[in-house]
Amino acid sequence: MYYCFPIELKKVISESKLDNFIYFDERKDCFLNRNKKKVNIEGNKILVISDIFRLYDMLDLIDDFNGIPINTMEDIETVKHWASFIEPYHRDMSIVTGKDFEDLSFLTYLFEKYGVNGSIFLKTVDKDFHGTVSIIDIVDPDSPFRKAMKYHLSDEFMISPVVTIDEDDLGKKEYRAFVHNRTITSISRPLHKTYHRIPNEVVDFINAVIAELPNDFPDYFVLDIASINRQLDILEFNPIETAMPYLYNSRVAAISEDLTHQNITAIPKYKAHKCSFECEESPSSPLFDDIPGSFSHDYHQALTGENKLHPSLSYLFEKKFIKRKQ
Ligand SMILES: Nc1ncnc2c1ncn2[C@@H]1O[C@H](COP(=O)(O)OP(=O)(O)OP(=O)(O)O)[C@@H](O)[C@H]1O
Ligand SMILES: [Mg+2]
Repeated sequence: MYYCFPIELKKVISESKLDNFIYFDERKDCFLNRNKKKVNIEGNKILVISDIFRLYDMLDLIDDFNGIPINTMEDIETVKHWASFIEPYHRDMSIVTGKDFEDLSFLTYLFEKYGVNGSIFLKTVDKDFHGTVSIIDIVDPDSPFRKAMKYHLSDEFMISPVVTIDEDDLGKKEYRAFVHNRTITSISRPLHKTYHRIPNEVVDFINAVIAELPNDFPDYFVLDIASINRQLDILEFNPIETAMPYLYNSRVAAISEDLTHQNITAIPKYKAHKCSFECEESPSSPLFDDIPGSFSHDYHQALTGENKLHPSLSYLFEKKFIKRKQ
């Protein structure tokens, strides 16, 4: 198997210098490995590693050169729509469209389920926004939420009750597992610099989730779980292609022999140094990604009047996307 990344992301993909990591060279119109040797991907399995902006171009390239993507575009869509295949154990999760928020019977259902003073946790399937929205704002046709939603009637949203995630000294008890071929390969808390261990029950829980997956669900994905009211539950699934690896995570398919980090300081060489037992400040993930045309951008604008550009997009405008020579 090869791991194929867009050359522009070389610096942020910490594994990029490992064996089997390849990138596309536009000038030479071929794939190269870390020694700049040409690699023929025809008939080989390829795990694309990318950001969301370049993912589909990368999949097209693999197709052009007759490589076999680990996940097809349909597989990636299935992982993004995981809540249609798998139910969390202790809370409801459903996928709705923007149109539903114009539908009186759906609004009545939300009002009755969550109450006039209630809220829901809402995020876009495309992952540009997550946050808590009050029922008052959802049912008010003139609220910023509903104004923004008018431009996103066909977009898909995941809704669930707002929960409180249990915490300890290192912050929220959340765990990210990379799963290759339905086997856990690594687990980490969402920390980049802080040594920590993983409770055995986390491994058992993730294995139980994997064992119950429907047959038509892809075999390669990233699973986030959390402890909520002292019970483990599924937080979400993410495409393995675009998910960020934390301190003990790796995108490589090799199974870690120490999933719970008993050898707590054994971090692969290519990982950033300066790790410690002191808890790092975990930068909270942005609620709004401000990608033009996204729900996040329009909701942010409706709420604040601001109109700003997502930082990774300003970078993209300087560079053109990977394109094959015609
Ligand atoms: N139902 C919920 N209620 C309250 N907080 C939640 C809920 N679900 C998730 N969270 C918190 O919000 C964070 C983001 O949620 P989630 O990962 O599901 O969305 P996302 O769009 O994938 O965001 P990110 O890209 O930051 O991972 C989670 O890490 C968790 O801490
Ligand atoms: Mg997430």
